[in-house]
Amino acid sequence: MTAVLQDKTVVLGVTGGISAYKAAEVCRLLRKAGARVEVVMTPAACAFITPLTMEALSGNSVATEMFETTAQSHIGHIELASRADIVVVAPATADAIARFAAGMANDLLAAVVLATRAPVLLAPAMNSNMWDNPITQANLARLIDTGRFSTVGPDAGELACGWVGAGRLVAPAEIMAAIESRLAGAPDAARAEGALAGRRTVVTAGPTWEAVDDVRFLGNRSSGKMGFALAHTAAMQGADVTLIAGPVALATPAGVTRRIDVESALEMREALRRVAMQADVVVMAAAVADFRPGVRVLGKLSRRDAHPAAARPARTLPLVANPDLLAELGRARKGRAPLLVGFAAEVGVSGEALVARARQKLTEKGCDVVVANEVGKAGLGLGAEYNAVTMVFADGRVVDLPADRKEAIAMKIWNTITTFYLTPADASASNKSVPASAGLSPISPGKRRARRGRKGNDV
Ligand code: PMT
Repeated sequence: MTAVLQDKTVVLGVTGGISAYKAAEVCRLLRKAGARVEVVMTPAACAFITPLTMEALSGNSVATEMFETTAQSHIGHIELASRADIVVVAPATADAIARFAAGMANDLLAAVVLATRAPVLLAPAMNSNMWDNPITQANLARLIDTGRFSTVGPDAGELACGWVGAGRLVAPAEIMAAIESRLAGAPDAARAEGALAGRRTVVTAGPTWEAVDDVRFLGNRSSGKMGFALAHTAAMQGADVTLIAGPVALATPAGVTRRIDVESALEMREALRRVAMQADVVVMAAAVADFRPGVRVLGKLSRRDAHPAAARPARTLPLVANPDLLAELGRARKGRAPLLVGFAAEVGVSGEALVARARQKLTEKGCDVVVANEVGKAGLGLGAEYNAVTMVFADGRVVDLPADRKEAIAMKIWNTITTFYLTPADASASNKSVPASAGLSPISPGKRRARRGRKGNDV
């Protein structure tokens, strides 16, 4: 944990959901990290966890009513709103999100959220159908578009209502990481002037798991490190970053605006459907499974199923092809935004053959850039700390990035992309507001020729 929370004032909003009890742990961790915590609870939240609990943990009286005649009445929603370095709403129900999006101020928390100029972090938690509902998604998109709101989670899994899907409040530790990264990113002037300032980027990372039954899956050895490094370095250069992560054991990098956790290729496809077409750049670093089991067995597939021990033949697992998510995006964008950056993971292929494979994938999947890496070498690529890549561009240019730590490789990938695609005019425009559909435009052929004249690795 960093010192970023020391002496910061965090307004912790708690709304009425079954996971409200986790707000107690968030409160405890915030205090432990040195923050002053002011808790605001909606009336519904008080049905799930008592203000007394939050009072004991925060060390402050808890505000619940807009017009109280008790001790905290002198604070008022405006004072609370202006004292906050960050407002965190955990859990944030669909109802609360809808009210924030509508600009309502019909309870103390909504009034604080409306009145504050501090960043607001929402940790949504709700039934999966409520989460998937386009109304909820539109409300969230509206809030995020203001530039002040960001989200952490929700997680997918078994929900309190008994359903299985996305909608579970993320773990308190993850909320803490998101708070720290939001606070660390907020005052950073370098980010505002970064080469990707104002650009909306979507990065996919990690493996996908394709369920065989309730306990087994088909997966791969991707750790997510390459994708997370790309997300982190984009955020450091000012981009608004949506990170779509397969099942990995990595904390959300500082500065990342929102993280969507998925498990399977089909879930990743759904997440991409929600965010990819509004982005300026999509980078597909995830190792998406090409196949999934044809049927998912409920419960646990048993070795005794179907056959007596004596006549037990080898099992066969029927597989069906997963959709090619990158190719789908390549078709859907019809040659327009977003700029599409694919990866190519190859085993035992290097040099010109690697470039040829990357070119083939670039054409087949309709990308602008393919980042090729050889993944069978010890210490490089899949699961490793280091990588070495070759970037192949649609116009034929090739850039080699020799072995380095993934964070350094990621930075060079972004530098190459912005050098190649971001004109000086775009760069100054990007510090203003760039429309979501703007994408990154290729530099003019004249400038491109000039750049081609330079050495391959000059990034
Ligand atoms: O996660 P790490 O341990 O850090 O490792 C990083 C990495 C090796 C996984 C990464 O650098 C990488 O190469 N990612 C792409 C892996 C992959 O799936 O490559 P591919 O050649 O099979 O696929 C080509 C492209 O199509 C990729 O952008 C992939 O995301 C995409 N794809 C693949 C299959 C599929 N069904 N849908 C897809 O969108």
